[in-house]
Amino acid sequence: ATGLRGRDFLGLVDYKPEEIRYLIDLAIDLKRKQKNGEIYQPLKGKTLGMIFEKSSTRTRVSFEVGMYQLGGHALFLSRNDIQMGRGETIRDTAMTMSRYLDGIIIRTFGHRNVVELARSATVPVINALSDQSHPCQALADYQTILEKKGKLDGLKIAYIGDGNNMLHSLMIGASKLGLHFASASPEGYDPDAEQVKLAREFAGETGAKIDIVRDPREAVEGADVIYTDVWASMGFEEEQKERERAFKSYQVNEELAKGAKSDYLFMHCLPAHRGEEVSEGVIDGPHSVIFDEAENRLHAQKAIMAAIM
Ligand code: CP
Ligand code: NVA
Repeated sequence: ATGLRGRDFLGLVDYKPEEIRYLIDLAIDLKRKQKNGEIYQPLKGKTLGMIFEKSSTRTRVSFEVGMYQLGGHALFLSRNDIQMGRGETIRDTAMTMSRYLDGIIIRTFGHRNVVELARSATVPVINALSDQSHPCQALADYQTILEKKGKLDGLKIAYIGDGNNMLHSLMIGASKLGLHFASASPEGYDPDAEQVKLAREFAGETGAKIDIVRDPREAVEGADVIYTDVWASMGFEEEQKERERAFKSYQVNEELAKGAKSDYLFMHCLPAHRGEEVSEGVIDGPHSVIFDEAENRLHAQKAIMAAIM
């Protein structure tokens, strides 16, 4: 498909707007095929290794099921069960695994581990979440927004909370797809300056708009989508208490949502902490599309695998 074969999928930053759109359209097509009971197995006989250094529900299950549905086989490789956990280098792991596998996904801490794995592997590598980014989630989220709103271009997405991997991937996605992205984070929890700079560069080419502000009400004003994520990501658990204090006025609740459009979507990558970053009324209310997002992880990742593997 369209020259994506053999590519890595480390971040939306490496993909052109039309390539991201192609993957979203493919995801929608694969979703339709699956709902109609059509068998589509372009990856018959292929294998995917899945290295996890952090917990996962959605990513693990959707990649494993997706690979099966495409006719291939996936292996779950927990860091502690492979020699990487005992100090074997990422390079040796990548070189070895490339002799068995047709693709590798990795969920890890430092993004440089993802880059190092991709550099050393001779098969495509997919970023299944790093401290810097979570592009599979963002792709599924833009698919969800397109399905619900019928378009992406010109919509406003407000991200409230931690300047983390989710913020970065949504912001880069928005900058490539022509949305107005506005985020509000407390002082000390802003997004990475390098990521903001990149997003603003892309926005200059696509007509997207990137606003990084402090006040959640300002970000939410007139938004089509309100997105939030946990205050303490994986690896930051020991900061939970101090983050609860810092993020106290950043909860997405009915009061804050009043500033958004009346038909706004509420989105969250999950897992969520009800009563912290989002009120129960909002996450379980009529605007919430959290399980559509979760479902679309399956279809979006099938699209990525079918295109690059
Ligand atoms: N959203 C997401 O990636 O969920 P998991 O951590 O359960 O994979
Ligand atoms: N920001 C969260 C996303 C989990 C899917 C984390 O990194 O833990």
